[in-house]
Amino acid sequence: MEYDFLVLGSGMAGLTFALNAAPHGTVAILTKKQRSESNTNYAQGGIAAAMGADDSWELHLHDTLIAGAGLCEREAVEVLVREGPRMVQWLIELGAQFDRNPDGSLALGREGGHTRNRILHAADHTGYEIERTLLIAARKTPHITVLEHYQALDLVLQDGACVGVRVLDTLTGDLFEIRARAVLLATGGCGQVYLHTSNPPIATGDGIAMAWRAGAVIANMEFIQFHPTTLYHTDAPSFLISEAVRGEGGLLKRRDGYRFMPDYDPRAELAPRDIVARAIDAELKKTGDPCVYLDITHLDADFIQRRFPTIYQTCLQYGIDITREPIPVVPAAHYTCGGVWTDLHGRTTIPRLYACGEVAYTGVHGANRLASNSLLEALVFAERAAIHATTRLDEPPPQPKPSCITAHLAPPTPAPTLDAHADNWDAARLRIRQLMHKRVGIVRTVARLQEAFCALETLAAQLEAAYRQTPITVDSCEARNLAACALLITQSALARKESRGLHYVLDYPESRDEYAVCPTLITPV
Ligand code: FAD
Ligand code: SIN
Repeated sequence: MEYDFLVLGSGMAGLTFALNAAPHGTVAILTKKQRSESNTNYAQGGIAAAMGADDSWELHLHDTLIAGAGLCEREAVEVLVREGPRMVQWLIELGAQFDRNPDGSLALGREGGHTRNRILHAADHTGYEIERTLLIAARKTPHITVLEHYQALDLVLQDGACVGVRVLDTLTGDLFEIRARAVLLATGGCGQVYLHTSNPPIATGDGIAMAWRAGAVIANMEFIQFHPTTLYHTDAPSFLISEAVRGEGGLLKRRDGYRFMPDYDPRAELAPRDIVARAIDAELKKTGDPCVYLDITHLDADFIQRRFPTIYQTCLQYGIDITREPIPVVPAAHYTCGGVWTDLHGRTTIPRLYACGEVAYTGVHGANRLASNSLLEALVFAERAAIHATTRLDEPPPQPKPSCITAHLAPPTPAPTLDAHADNWDAARLRIRQLMHKRVGIVRTVARLQEAFCALETLAAQLEAAYRQTPITVDSCEARNLAACALLITQSALARKESRGLHYVLDYPESRDEYAVCPTLITPV
Protein backbone atom coordinates (compact mmCIF):
# COMPACT_ATOMS: atom_id res chain seq x y z
CA MET A 1 0.00 0.00 0.00
CA GLU A 2 1.28 3.47 -0.81
CA TYR A 3 -0.19 6.92 -0.14
CA ASP A 4 1.04 10.50 -0.34
CA PHE A 5 0.44 11.12 3.36
CA LEU A 6 0.24 8.54 6.11
CA VAL A 7 -1.34 9.71 9.36
CA LEU A 8 -0.94 7.61 12.49
CA GLY A 9 -3.88 8.30 14.79
CA SER A 10 -7.49 9.45 14.36
CA GLY A 11 -7.78 11.99 17.19
CA MET A 12 -7.94 15.73 16.76
CA ALA A 13 -4.37 16.11 15.48
CA GLY A 14 -4.54 13.29 12.92
CA LEU A 15 -7.94 14.27 11.54
CA THR A 16 -7.06 17.98 11.30
CA PHE A 17 -3.86 17.17 9.41
CA ALA A 18 -5.73 14.78 7.09
CA LEU A 19 -8.45 17.30 6.24
CA ASN A 20 -5.84 19.93 5.39
CA ALA A 21 -3.58 17.57 3.40
CA ALA A 22 -6.32 15.82 1.41
CA PRO A 23 -6.66 18.53 -1.29
CA HIS A 24 -3.00 17.82 -2.17
CA GLY A 25 -2.88 14.03 -2.37
CA THR A 26 -4.03 10.70 -1.02
CA VAL A 27 -4.21 10.33 2.77
CA ALA A 28 -4.44 7.16 4.85
CA ILE A 29 -5.32 7.46 8.53
CA LEU A 30 -4.19 4.43 10.47
CA THR A 31 -5.77 3.85 13.84
CA LYS A 32 -5.33 1.00 16.26
CA LYS A 33 -8.95 0.60 17.37
CA GLN A 34 -12.21 1.95 15.98
CA ARG A 35 -11.80 5.44 14.53
CA SER A 36 -13.29 7.51 17.36
CA GLU A 37 -11.25 5.87 20.13
CA SER A 38 -8.79 8.53 21.24
CA ASN A 39 -8.07 10.88 24.14
CA THR A 40 -9.79 13.54 22.06
CA ASN A 41 -13.08 11.69 22.33
CA TYR A 42 -13.03 11.92 26.15
CA ALA A 43 -12.03 15.57 26.51
CA GLN A 44 -14.41 17.26 28.90
CA GLY A 45 -13.61 20.87 29.84
CA GLY A 46 -13.14 22.35 26.40
CA ILE A 47 -10.82 24.22 24.08
CA ALA A 48 -9.18 27.50 25.07
CA ALA A 49 -9.16 30.42 22.64
CA ALA A 50 -9.15 34.18 23.14
CA MET A 51 -12.57 34.80 21.58
CA GLY A 52 -14.35 36.74 24.35
CA ALA A 53 -14.94 40.51 24.15
CA ASP A 54 -12.72 41.10 27.20
CA ASP A 55 -9.94 38.80 25.97
CA SER A 56 -6.91 39.03 23.69
CA TRP A 57 -4.18 36.74 22.39
CA GLU A 58 -1.75 38.69 24.59
CA LEU A 59 -3.68 37.71 27.73
CA HIS A 60 -3.86 34.07 26.63
CA LEU A 61 -0.11 34.21 25.94
CA HIS A 62 0.52 35.64 29.41
CA ASP A 63 -1.53 32.93 31.18
CA THR A 64 0.13 30.14 29.17
CA LEU A 65 3.61 31.44 29.98
CA ILE A 66 2.79 31.74 33.70
CA ALA A 67 1.41 28.17 33.88
CA GLY A 68 4.47 26.90 31.95
CA ALA A 69 6.75 28.06 34.82
CA GLY A 70 9.34 29.74 32.65
CA LEU A 71 9.90 26.86 30.27
CA CYS A 72 7.49 27.62 27.41
CA GLU A 73 8.99 28.54 24.05
CA ARG A 74 7.49 31.98 23.58
CA GLU A 75 7.45 31.85 19.78
CA ALA A 76 5.48 28.59 19.82
CA VAL A 77 3.00 29.97 22.35
CA GLU A 78 2.52 33.03 20.20
CA VAL A 79 1.68 30.83 17.22
CA LEU A 80 -0.78 28.89 19.39
CA VAL A 81 -2.70 31.83 20.81
CA ARG A 82 -2.66 34.01 17.68
CA GLU A 83 -3.77 31.28 15.27
CA GLY A 84 -6.07 29.58 17.79
CA PRO A 85 -9.24 31.67 17.30
CA ARG A 86 -9.11 31.28 13.49
CA MET A 87 -8.73 27.52 13.79
CA VAL A 88 -11.55 27.27 16.33
CA GLN A 89 -13.70 29.21 13.88
CA TRP A 90 -12.73 26.64 11.21
CA LEU A 91 -13.95 23.91 13.55
CA ILE A 92 -17.24 25.75 14.11
CA GLU A 93 -17.67 26.13 10.35
CA LEU A 94 -17.10 22.37 9.97
CA GLY A 95 -20.11 21.90 12.27
CA ALA A 96 -18.85 21.76 15.88
CA GLN A 97 -21.63 22.90 18.21
CA PHE A 98 -20.27 24.68 21.25
CA ASP A 99 -22.54 25.93 24.05
CA ARG A 100 -23.94 29.40 23.54
CA ASN A 101 -25.52 32.06 25.73
CA PRO A 102 -29.19 32.99 25.24
CA ASP A 103 -28.05 35.92 23.01
CA GLY A 104 -26.21 33.50 20.68
CA SER A 105 -22.70 34.41 21.77
CA LEU A 106 -20.28 31.62 22.74
CA ALA A 107 -20.61 30.52 26.39
CA LEU A 108 -17.03 30.70 27.64
CA GLY A 109 -15.98 28.76 30.76
CA ARG A 110 -13.09 29.30 33.17
CA GLU A 111 -10.41 26.79 34.26
CA GLY A 112 -7.31 26.89 36.44
CA GLY A 113 -4.62 29.42 35.44
CA HIS A 114 -6.86 31.41 33.04
CA THR A 115 -7.47 35.06 33.91
CA ARG A 116 -10.42 35.28 31.51
CA ASN A 117 -13.37 33.07 30.62
CA ARG A 118 -12.07 31.56 27.36
CA ILE A 119 -12.98 27.86 27.29
CA LEU A 120 -15.37 26.88 24.51
CA HIS A 121 -17.22 23.74 25.50
CA ALA A 122 -20.06 21.42 24.60
CA ALA A 123 -21.42 20.71 28.10
CA ASP A 124 -18.81 18.30 29.56
CA HIS A 125 -18.39 16.23 26.38
CA THR A 126 -16.47 18.70 24.24
CA GLY A 127 -14.07 16.06 22.89
CA TYR A 128 -16.90 13.88 21.66
CA GLU A 129 -18.38 16.84 19.78
CA ILE A 130 -15.04 17.69 18.18
CA GLU A 131 -14.25 14.09 17.23
CA ARG A 132 -17.75 13.67 15.78
CA THR A 133 -17.38 16.82 13.69
CA LEU A 134 -13.95 15.91 12.33
CA LEU A 135 -14.90 12.30 11.52
CA ILE A 136 -17.97 13.44 9.56
CA ALA A 137 -15.82 15.92 7.63
CA ALA A 138 -13.21 13.23 6.92
CA ARG A 139 -15.90 10.86 5.64
CA LYS A 140 -17.09 13.50 3.18
CA THR A 141 -13.59 14.37 1.96
CA PRO A 142 -12.26 12.65 -1.15
CA HIS A 143 -8.80 11.04 -0.89
CA ILE A 144 -9.07 10.18 2.84
CA THR A 145 -9.06 6.48 3.76
CA VAL A 146 -9.42 5.45 7.41
CA LEU A 147 -7.81 2.09 8.24
CA GLU A 148 -9.16 0.86 11.58
CA HIS A 149 -7.59 -1.83 13.77
CA TYR A 150 -4.17 -1.27 12.24
CA GLN A 151 -1.44 -0.86 14.82
CA ALA A 152 1.73 0.96 13.76
CA LEU A 153 4.74 -0.92 15.13
CA ASP A 154 7.82 0.93 13.90
CA LEU A 155 8.81 3.57 11.40
CA VAL A 156 10.49 2.46 8.17
CA LEU A 157 13.57 4.54 7.32
CA GLN A 158 15.43 4.74 4.02
CA ASP A 159 18.61 6.80 3.71
CA GLY A 160 17.71 8.37 7.05
CA ALA A 161 14.27 9.57 5.92
CA CYS A 162 10.94 8.18 7.03
CA VAL A 163 9.27 6.39 4.12
CA GLY A 164 6.54 4.45 5.88
CA VAL A 165 5.46 2.31 8.77
CA ARG A 166 5.46 -1.35 9.74
CA VAL A 167 1.94 -2.34 10.67
CA LEU A 168 0.06 -5.10 12.50
CA ASP A 169 -3.49 -5.86 11.41
CA THR A 170 -4.87 -6.45 14.89
CA LEU A 171 -7.83 -8.50 13.61
CA THR A 172 -5.86 -10.98 11.46
CA GLY A 173 -2.35 -10.79 12.95
CA ASP A 174 -0.89 -9.99 9.48
CA LEU A 175 2.24 -7.83 9.33
CA PHE A 176 3.02 -5.52 6.41
CA GLU A 177 4.40 -2.12 5.43
CA ILE A 178 2.59 1.01 4.30
CA ARG A 179 4.68 3.56 2.44
CA ALA A 180 4.14 7.30 1.99
CA ARG A 181 5.90 10.50 0.95
CA ALA A 182 5.36 11.93 4.44
CA VAL A 183 4.34 10.35 7.74
CA LEU A 184 2.57 12.13 10.61
CA LEU A 185 2.72 10.86 14.18
CA ALA A 186 -0.58 11.80 15.84
CA THR A 187 -0.68 8.90 18.27
CA GLY A 188 -1.32 10.89 21.46
CA GLY A 189 0.31 10.62 24.86
CA CYS A 190 1.44 7.92 27.27
CA GLY A 191 -0.89 8.21 30.30
CA GLN A 192 -1.09 4.41 30.52
CA VAL A 193 2.49 4.34 31.78
CA TYR A 194 1.05 5.21 35.23
CA LEU A 195 -1.07 3.00 37.45
CA HIS A 196 -3.77 5.64 37.79
CA THR A 197 -4.63 7.69 34.72
CA SER A 198 -7.51 9.60 33.20
CA ASN A 199 -6.46 8.31 29.76
CA PRO A 200 -8.18 5.52 27.82
CA PRO A 201 -6.24 2.28 27.07
CA ILE A 202 -4.99 3.53 23.66
CA ALA A 203 -2.64 6.03 25.35
CA THR A 204 0.47 3.82 25.43
CA GLY A 205 2.97 6.29 23.98
CA ASP A 206 3.49 4.28 20.77
CA GLY A 207 4.47 7.29 18.65
CA ILE A 208 7.01 8.58 21.16
CA ALA A 209 8.58 5.12 21.45
CA MET A 210 8.64 4.59 17.67
CA ALA A 211 10.24 7.97 17.04
CA TRP A 212 12.87 7.36 19.71
CA ARG A 213 13.77 3.96 18.26
CA ALA A 214 14.04 5.62 14.83
CA GLY A 215 16.50 8.21 16.17
CA ALA A 216 14.34 11.31 16.67
CA VAL A 217 15.09 13.79 19.45
CA ILE A 218 12.62 13.56 22.36
CA ALA A 219 12.03 16.53 24.70
CA ASN A 220 10.72 17.32 28.22
CA MET A 221 9.36 13.88 29.07
CA GLU A 222 9.71 14.52 32.82
CA PHE A 223 6.75 16.90 32.65
CA ILE A 224 3.82 14.54 33.15
CA GLN A 225 0.71 16.41 34.15
CA PHE A 226 -1.36 14.88 36.94
CA HIS A 227 -4.94 16.04 36.82
CA PRO A 228 -5.95 16.99 40.37
CA THR A 229 -9.42 15.50 40.26
CA THR A 230 -10.30 12.03 39.03
CA LEU A 231 -13.07 10.05 40.67
CA TYR A 232 -11.92 7.94 43.61
CA HIS A 233 -14.06 4.84 43.76
CA THR A 234 -12.94 1.24 44.20
CA ASP A 235 -15.09 0.05 41.26
CA ALA A 236 -14.32 2.92 38.86
CA PRO A 237 -11.35 3.38 36.57
CA SER A 238 -9.91 6.88 37.02
CA PHE A 239 -12.79 8.85 35.53
CA LEU A 240 -12.04 12.54 35.08
CA ILE A 241 -13.93 15.19 37.03
CA SER A 242 -13.36 18.21 34.80
CA GLU A 243 -11.51 21.28 35.97
CA ALA A 244 -14.56 23.14 34.68
CA VAL A 245 -16.30 21.94 37.85
CA ARG A 246 -13.85 24.06 39.84
CA GLY A 247 -14.25 26.77 37.20
CA GLU A 248 -17.97 26.89 38.04
CA GLY A 249 -17.25 27.21 41.77
CA GLY A 250 -16.40 23.67 42.99
CA LEU A 251 -14.43 23.65 46.26
CA LEU A 252 -11.80 21.15 47.37
CA LYS A 253 -12.23 19.94 50.93
CA ARG A 254 -10.78 17.40 53.33
CA ARG A 255 -12.93 14.66 54.85
CA ASP A 256 -13.50 16.93 57.88
CA GLY A 257 -14.95 19.60 55.54
CA TYR A 258 -11.94 21.94 55.72
CA ARG A 259 -11.30 23.87 52.46
CA PHE A 260 -7.52 23.63 52.08
CA MET A 261 -6.57 25.26 48.75
CA PRO A 262 -6.39 28.86 50.05
CA ASP A 263 -3.58 27.63 52.37
CA TYR A 264 -1.49 26.75 49.31
CA ASP A 265 -2.15 29.47 46.73
CA PRO A 266 -4.13 32.73 46.53
CA ARG A 267 -5.79 31.41 43.36
CA ALA A 268 -7.09 28.52 45.51
CA GLU A 269 -8.97 25.86 43.46
CA LEU A 270 -8.13 27.70 40.23
CA ALA A 271 -4.36 27.67 40.67
CA PRO A 272 -2.49 25.86 37.85
CA ARG A 273 -2.76 22.07 37.96
CA ASP A 274 0.71 21.29 39.27
CA ILE A 275 0.00 23.38 42.37
CA VAL A 276 -3.44 21.87 43.01
CA ALA A 277 -2.26 18.28 42.44
CA ARG A 278 0.71 18.74 44.81
CA ALA A 279 -1.54 20.35 47.43
CA ILE A 280 -3.91 17.35 47.30
CA ASP A 281 -0.94 14.97 47.49
CA ALA A 282 0.33 16.84 50.58
CA GLU A 283 -3.12 16.75 52.24
CA LEU A 284 -3.44 13.00 51.60
CA LYS A 285 -0.01 12.39 53.12
CA LYS A 286 -0.84 14.60 56.11
CA THR A 287 -4.25 13.06 56.88
CA GLY A 288 -3.64 9.49 55.69
CA ASP A 289 -6.99 9.67 53.85
CA PRO A 290 -7.29 7.93 50.47
CA CYS A 291 -9.00 10.91 48.77
CA VAL A 292 -10.17 14.50 49.14
CA TYR A 293 -13.58 15.85 48.12
CA LEU A 294 -14.79 18.20 45.40
CA ASP A 295 -17.94 19.92 46.56
CA ILE A 296 -20.45 21.59 44.22
CA THR A 297 -23.54 20.94 46.28
CA HIS A 298 -23.96 24.70 46.80
CA LEU A 299 -24.76 25.11 43.08
CA ASP A 300 -28.23 24.74 41.64
CA ALA A 301 -29.03 21.06 40.95
CA ASP A 302 -30.56 21.76 37.51
CA PHE A 303 -27.53 23.79 36.50
CA ILE A 304 -25.20 20.94 37.56
CA GLN A 305 -27.13 18.37 35.54
CA ARG A 306 -27.23 20.61 32.46
CA ARG A 307 -23.62 21.79 32.61
CA PHE A 308 -22.06 18.43 33.60
CA PRO A 309 -24.37 15.69 32.27
CA THR A 310 -21.60 13.11 31.74
CA ILE A 311 -20.04 13.65 35.15
CA TYR A 312 -23.45 13.68 36.86
CA GLN A 313 -24.57 10.43 35.21
CA THR A 314 -21.27 8.62 35.65
CA CYS A 315 -21.02 9.49 39.35
CA LEU A 316 -24.65 8.48 39.81
CA GLN A 317 -23.78 5.04 38.37
CA TYR A 318 -21.32 4.69 41.25
CA GLY A 319 -23.93 5.77 43.79
CA ILE A 320 -22.77 9.40 44.12
CA ASP A 321 -25.34 12.15 43.55
CA ILE A 322 -23.06 15.15 42.95
CA THR A 323 -25.93 17.62 43.49
CA ARG A 324 -26.21 16.39 47.10
CA GLU A 325 -22.82 15.05 48.17
CA PRO A 326 -19.17 15.93 47.56
CA ILE A 327 -17.25 13.88 44.98
CA PRO A 328 -14.32 11.78 46.27
CA VAL A 329 -11.30 12.64 44.09
CA VAL A 330 -7.58 11.87 43.70
CA PRO A 331 -4.96 13.09 41.21
CA ALA A 332 -4.08 10.81 38.26
CA ALA A 333 -1.69 10.98 35.30
CA HIS A 334 -3.41 12.99 32.59
CA TYR A 335 -1.21 14.62 29.99
CA THR A 336 2.26 14.17 28.44
CA CYS A 337 3.70 17.70 28.13
CA GLY A 338 6.86 16.47 26.40
CA GLY A 339 7.22 14.21 23.38
CA VAL A 340 8.81 14.08 19.96
CA TRP A 341 10.66 17.35 19.43
CA THR A 342 9.19 19.44 16.60
CA ASP A 343 9.65 22.88 15.12
CA LEU A 344 6.83 25.36 14.48
CA HIS A 345 5.73 23.33 11.42
CA GLY A 346 5.43 19.99 13.18
CA ARG A 347 8.71 18.74 11.68
CA THR A 348 10.73 16.25 13.72
CA THR A 349 14.48 15.77 13.39
CA ILE A 350 13.89 12.91 10.90
CA PRO A 351 13.26 13.92 7.28
CA ARG A 352 9.64 13.44 6.14
CA LEU A 353 8.46 12.62 9.67
CA TYR A 354 6.03 15.07 11.30
CA ALA A 355 4.42 14.96 14.75
CA CYS A 356 1.58 16.91 16.31
CA GLY A 357 -0.89 16.80 19.14
CA GLU A 358 -0.03 15.16 22.43
CA VAL A 359 2.74 12.99 20.93
CA ALA A 360 4.73 16.11 20.08
CA TYR A 361 6.82 18.61 21.98
CA THR A 362 6.23 22.01 20.37
CA GLY A 363 7.36 24.09 23.34
CA VAL A 364 3.92 25.54 24.08
CA HIS A 365 3.33 23.81 27.43
CA GLY A 366 6.68 24.32 29.11
CA ALA A 367 6.78 22.81 32.59
CA ASN A 368 3.00 22.68 33.00
CA ARG A 369 0.20 22.78 30.45
CA LEU A 370 -2.48 25.41 30.90
CA ALA A 371 -5.93 23.76 31.03
CA SER A 372 -7.66 23.28 27.67
CA ASN A 373 -4.60 24.31 25.66
CA SER A 374 -3.94 20.81 24.33
CA LEU A 375 -6.91 20.51 21.99
CA LEU A 376 -5.91 23.94 20.69
CA GLU A 377 -2.31 22.83 20.19
CA ALA A 378 -3.44 19.75 18.24
CA LEU A 379 -5.63 21.91 16.01
CA VAL A 380 -3.17 24.73 15.31
CA PHE A 381 -0.03 22.68 14.78
CA ALA A 382 -1.75 19.97 12.71
CA GLU A 383 -2.79 22.59 10.17
CA ARG A 384 0.74 24.01 10.12
CA ALA A 385 2.22 20.54 9.64
CA ALA A 386 -0.17 19.83 6.77
CA ILE A 387 0.77 23.10 5.06
CA HIS A 388 4.45 22.28 5.37
CA ALA A 389 4.12 18.64 4.28
CA THR A 390 2.14 19.62 1.19
CA THR A 391 4.38 22.47 0.06
CA ARG A 392 7.91 22.19 1.50
CA LEU A 393 8.41 18.50 2.15
CA ASP A 394 11.90 18.32 0.66
CA GLU A 395 13.48 20.88 2.99
CA PRO A 396 16.20 19.48 5.27
CA PRO A 397 14.94 18.64 8.78
CA PRO A 398 15.37 21.08 11.68
CA GLN A 399 17.45 20.54 14.81
CA PRO A 400 16.70 21.91 18.27
CA LYS A 401 18.87 24.69 19.63
CA PRO A 402 21.51 23.27 22.00
CA SER A 403 20.17 22.98 25.54
CA CYS A 404 22.06 22.76 28.81
CA ILE A 405 19.97 19.71 29.76
CA THR A 406 20.81 16.98 27.28
CA ALA A 407 21.03 13.26 27.85
CA HIS A 408 21.67 10.23 25.67
CA LEU A 409 19.54 7.17 25.96
CA ALA A 410 19.92 4.35 23.46
CA PRO A 411 16.93 2.09 22.76
CA PRO A 412 17.34 -1.17 24.75
CA THR A 413 19.45 -3.98 23.39
CA PRO A 414 17.71 -7.33 23.88
CA ALA A 415 18.77 -9.21 27.04
CA PRO A 416 21.06 -12.15 26.15
CA THR A 417 19.08 -14.59 28.28
CA LEU A 418 15.37 -14.55 28.71
CA ASP A 419 13.79 -14.80 32.17
CA ALA A 420 10.93 -17.25 32.54
CA HIS A 421 7.66 -15.41 31.78
CA ALA A 422 9.47 -12.50 30.07
CA ASP A 423 6.61 -12.58 27.55
CA ASN A 424 3.92 -12.22 30.22
CA TRP A 425 2.97 -8.84 28.80
CA ASP A 426 0.22 -8.10 31.30
CA ALA A 427 2.55 -8.66 34.24
CA ALA A 428 5.24 -6.49 32.60
CA ARG A 429 2.76 -3.72 32.00
CA LEU A 430 1.56 -3.77 35.58
CA ARG A 431 5.15 -3.76 36.85
CA ILE A 432 5.98 -0.68 34.76
CA ARG A 433 2.84 1.15 35.89
CA GLN A 434 3.45 0.35 39.55
CA LEU A 435 7.09 1.43 39.32
CA MET A 436 6.11 4.73 37.76
CA HIS A 437 3.37 5.29 40.33
CA LYS A 438 5.63 4.59 43.30
CA ARG A 439 8.94 6.00 42.09
CA VAL A 440 8.27 8.62 39.39
CA GLY A 441 5.03 10.25 40.61
CA ILE A 442 3.98 13.74 41.71
CA VAL A 443 6.78 14.14 44.30
CA ARG A 444 10.12 12.64 43.26
CA THR A 445 13.50 11.94 44.86
CA VAL A 446 16.77 11.20 43.11
CA ALA A 447 17.11 7.85 44.91
CA ARG A 448 13.64 6.72 43.85
CA LEU A 449 14.25 7.85 40.26
CA GLN A 450 17.54 5.93 40.15
CA GLU A 451 15.89 2.79 41.50
CA ALA A 452 13.14 3.08 38.90
CA PHE A 453 15.64 3.62 36.09
CA CYS A 454 17.68 0.49 36.97
CA ALA A 455 14.58 -1.67 37.22
CA LEU A 456 13.18 -0.28 33.95
CA GLU A 457 16.44 -0.84 32.07
CA THR A 458 16.44 -4.52 33.00
CA LEU A 459 12.76 -4.91 32.23
CA ALA A 460 13.06 -3.12 28.87
CA ALA A 461 15.96 -5.37 27.80
CA GLN A 462 13.92 -8.47 28.70
CA LEU A 463 10.87 -7.14 26.87
CA GLU A 464 12.94 -6.31 23.79
CA ALA A 465 14.29 -9.88 23.67
CA ALA A 466 10.83 -11.38 24.21
CA TYR A 467 9.31 -9.05 21.58
CA ARG A 468 11.80 -10.25 18.99
CA GLN A 469 11.41 -13.94 19.81
CA THR A 470 7.62 -14.26 19.94
CA PRO A 471 4.78 -13.50 17.50
CA ILE A 472 3.99 -9.78 17.53
CA THR A 473 0.73 -8.85 19.23
CA VAL A 474 -0.94 -5.64 20.42
CA ASP A 475 0.10 -6.54 23.96
CA SER A 476 3.76 -7.13 23.15
CA CYS A 477 3.95 -3.96 21.11
CA GLU A 478 2.32 -1.81 23.79
CA ALA A 479 4.33 -3.27 26.70
CA ARG A 480 7.54 -2.50 24.78
CA ASN A 481 6.38 1.06 24.09
CA LEU A 482 5.32 1.67 27.69
CA ALA A 483 8.76 0.54 28.84
CA ALA A 484 10.35 2.97 26.37
CA CYS A 485 8.22 5.90 27.61
CA ALA A 486 8.88 5.00 31.25
CA LEU A 487 12.62 5.04 30.56
CA LEU A 488 12.40 8.37 28.75
CA ILE A 489 10.38 9.98 31.57
CA THR A 490 12.73 8.68 34.26
CA GLN A 491 15.92 9.58 32.39
CA SER A 492 14.60 13.09 31.73
CA ALA A 493 13.58 13.47 35.39
CA LEU A 494 17.10 12.47 36.45
CA ALA A 495 18.65 14.93 34.00
CA ARG A 496 16.71 17.96 35.32
CA LYS A 497 18.38 18.79 38.63
CA GLU A 498 15.82 21.32 39.81
CA SER A 499 12.10 21.55 40.59
CA ARG A 500 9.95 23.36 38.07
CA GLY A 501 6.24 23.13 37.27
CA LEU A 502 5.17 19.50 37.18
CA HIS A 503 8.65 18.17 37.95
CA TYR A 504 9.11 18.33 41.71
CA VAL A 505 12.17 16.69 43.28
CA LEU A 506 12.70 16.83 47.03
CA ASP A 507 16.51 16.84 46.58
CA TYR A 508 16.31 20.05 44.49
CA PRO A 509 13.22 21.91 45.73
CA GLU A 510 14.06 25.19 43.94
CA SER A 511 14.07 26.21 40.28
CA ARG A 512 17.46 27.17 38.82
CA ASP A 513 17.65 30.30 36.70
CA GLU A 514 20.12 28.77 34.26
CA TYR A 515 17.58 26.01 33.40
CA ALA A 516 14.72 28.42 32.71
CA VAL A 517 14.96 28.27 28.94
CA CYS A 518 16.36 24.75 28.65
CA PRO A 519 14.13 21.93 27.48
CA THR A 520 15.39 18.46 28.38
CA LEU A 521 16.57 16.88 25.14
CA ILE A 522 17.05 13.12 24.87
CA THR A 523 19.02 11.94 21.89
CA PRO A 524 19.14 8.23 21.17
CA VAL A 525 22.73 8.04 19.81
P1 FAD B 1 -5.49 11.35 20.65
O1 FAD B 1 -6.77 12.05 20.63
O2 FAD B 1 -5.15 10.61 21.89
O3 FAD B 1 -5.47 10.35 19.44
C1 FAD B 1 -4.45 9.39 19.29
C2 FAD B 1 -4.84 8.44 18.19
O4 FAD B 1 -3.74 7.62 17.85
C3 FAD B 1 -5.96 7.49 18.56
O5 FAD B 1 -6.80 7.37 17.44
C4 FAD B 1 -5.23 6.17 18.83
O6 FAD B 1 -6.03 5.04 18.67
C5 FAD B 1 -4.15 6.26 17.77
N1 FAD B 1 -2.97 5.45 18.02
C6 FAD B 1 -2.16 5.43 19.11
N2 FAD B 1 -1.15 4.56 18.93
C7 FAD B 1 -1.32 4.03 17.70
C8 FAD B 1 -0.60 3.06 16.94
N3 FAD B 1 0.49 2.46 17.41
N4 FAD B 1 -1.06 2.75 15.70
C9 FAD B 1 -2.18 3.32 15.20
N5 FAD B 1 -2.90 4.23 15.89
C10 FAD B 1 -2.47 4.58 17.12
N6 FAD B 1 -7.47 18.71 26.54
C11 FAD B 1 -8.05 19.93 26.38
O7 FAD B 1 -7.46 20.82 25.75
N7 FAD B 1 -9.27 20.16 26.91
C12 FAD B 1 -9.97 19.23 27.60
O8 FAD B 1 -11.08 19.48 28.05
C13 FAD B 1 -9.36 17.97 27.81
N8 FAD B 1 -10.00 17.01 28.52
C14 FAD B 1 -9.43 15.78 28.62
C15 FAD B 1 -10.14 14.78 29.28
C16 FAD B 1 -9.64 13.49 29.34
C17 FAD B 1 -10.39 12.42 30.07
C18 FAD B 1 -8.39 13.20 28.72
C19 FAD B 1 -7.84 11.82 28.76
C20 FAD B 1 -7.68 14.20 28.07
C21 FAD B 1 -8.20 15.49 28.01
N9 FAD B 1 -7.52 16.51 27.35
C22 FAD B 1 -8.10 17.74 27.22
C23 FAD B 1 -6.30 16.24 26.61
C24 FAD B 1 -6.65 16.08 25.11
O9 FAD B 1 -7.83 15.33 25.01
C25 FAD B 1 -5.55 15.38 24.34
O10 FAD B 1 -4.30 15.93 24.63
C26 FAD B 1 -5.80 15.51 22.84
O11 FAD B 1 -7.09 15.06 22.55
C27 FAD B 1 -4.78 14.73 22.07
O12 FAD B 1 -5.17 14.64 20.74
P2 FAD B 1 -4.27 13.81 19.74
O13 FAD B 1 -4.95 13.86 18.43
O14 FAD B 1 -2.88 14.25 19.83
O15 FAD B 1 -4.29 12.31 20.34
C1 SIN C 1 -10.66 19.01 32.21
O1 SIN C 1 -11.80 19.06 31.73
O2 SIN C 1 -10.38 19.24 33.39
C2 SIN C 1 -9.55 18.66 31.30
C3 SIN C 1 -9.05 19.88 30.68
C4 SIN C 1 -7.69 19.66 30.12
O3 SIN C 1 -7.08 18.61 30.30
O4 SIN C 1 -7.19 20.61 29.52
